Amino acid sequence: MDYKLELTDQQMRDYGYKVVDHIVEHFDSLPHKSPVCLETREQMESLLYEEVPLKPSDTEEVLAHVVGNIMSNCGLNSHPKSYSFVPGPSNFIGAMADALASAFNTFSGSWMISPAAAEVEIIMINWLLEMFGLPVKKGGGLFTSGGSLANLTALVTARRIKCGEDFSDACVYLSDQAHSSNIKALNILGFKKQQIRIIPTDLEFQISLNKLKNAIAIDKLNNRQPLCMIASAGTTNTGTIDPLAQLASMCKKENIWLHVDAAYGGGAILSKTAKQQLKGIEKADSITVDPHKWFYQPYEIGCLLVRDHRWLTQTFTEKPEYLRDVEGNQSEINFFDHGVQLTRSFKALKFYMSIKTFGLDAFKQAVDYNIDLAEKVEHKLRASNKWEIISPATLAVINFRYNPLDKNYPDAILDRLNQSISKQIIESGEALLTTTVLQNQVVLRMCLINPRTTFEHVTETLDMCEKIGEDTESNM
Ligand SMILES: Cc1ncc(COP(=O)(O)O)c(C=O)c1O
Repeated sequence: MDYKLELTDQQMRDYGYKVVDHIVEHFDSLPHKSPVCLETREQMESLLYEEVPLKPSDTEEVLAHVVGNIMSNCGLNSHPKSYSFVPGPSNFIGAMADALASAFNTFSGSWMISPAAAEVEIIMINWLLEMFGLPVKKGGGLFTSGGSLANLTALVTARRIKCGEDFSDACVYLSDQAHSSNIKALNILGFKKQQIRIIPTDLEFQISLNKLKNAIAIDKLNNRQPLCMIASAGTTNTGTIDPLAQLASMCKKENIWLHVDAAYGGGAILSKTAKQQLKGIEKADSITVDPHKWFYQPYEIGCLLVRDHRWLTQTFTEKPEYLRDVEGNQSEINFFDHGVQLTRSFKALKFYMSIKTFGLDAFKQAVDYNIDLAEKVEHKLRASNKWEIISPATLAVINFRYNPLDKNYPDAILDRLNQSISKQIIESGEALLTTTVLQNQVVLRMCLINPRTTFEHVTETLDMCEKIGEDTESNM
């Protein structure tokens, strides 16, 4: 029994090479597998449940069990036909970087312990500040587990900087299309329901500026403090970008913190054409970006950028006596002073290594490819008399429904038809294609941010959806 939990050098090599073989096999076989996994709790319990093992097991047996029974029973978010939610089109270099960071167990919290890890994070944050047009010298940020934690970190910071200790009169504004992680963050922070203003969107799913201005005016008349506007730069449902430039000038005038949740759409900054649509984002006080979405990184890596790095230290610095030796100087950043976590893994490494290896131009081309693909799909759907576009291709998201032109079905029937198409296509294993609800209609939603997805993949899925639609109609 090895109480040091160690393998010999040779055992480590053999084991590591086998893991790499499994990873390469995974990437190779990905398009030939189903992206969907519909196993039940009962099936998983009978396959996996066991009492904690006290005795060792053979390394190869454990690995075979994991690959054969665990990895194979998880949905494949990098699959070219995984269209739902926000796919995770990760890359191999990023995965290897995660293995390195994990094996070295690099502590990414303080300068003194890992100066190079801190420097890499500083460099990456500077690259992102520059991309998004925030001031590089004065600005700052940090990597987080994902967009949810980045939004939470932004809102804690906004609250601290704008309100100090007392936020009882503060109000926060966001649209009815803003991501749920923002409401979750506000709940965690103790904002009451009556401090959260959910502003309706217009017919194109952008926040209504008029309704927002009305809400702010009423709050001011009631001696409330308009604290923060959470704008969406790429809503999850439709990819819609709120009118950032107008929001920025309104927030400046009203002294409101502008947080832009660009967790979904942030990647569009890399596209020459889509970048224009993000105009105004450079005026934000804080921006959430999510590299594990449209920057093609493996989970987990989110990012918060802020206009002034001191806002983070003013919000998060604590000085317990056991950390006195790692305080460092002004320029040597301790990222534990910038956010929630003390112990942090070296998340920046995967982003750094994949950008250095592939070059940023490859990322730019991938984003443009994604945007073009969604536009081609929209064109195809518009050319058919079976499909109706509900929300056009926007930042690689498109929403549509099966609605044969000559039938004039009422909405209730169309809702049932489209729900049924989604259910059947998922159950068939062909694709992960789920529904959302837009303007009270059940619609199919495709998010096409995976550069592995081709027009042929989408055509195959749509042909199958159409066939399911026709069969369902004839059985109605
Ligand atoms: C707009 C938006 N914000 C925030 C999030 C939450 O990000 P994460 O899942 O990385 O926590 C998402 C996730 O889809 C999102 O689309």
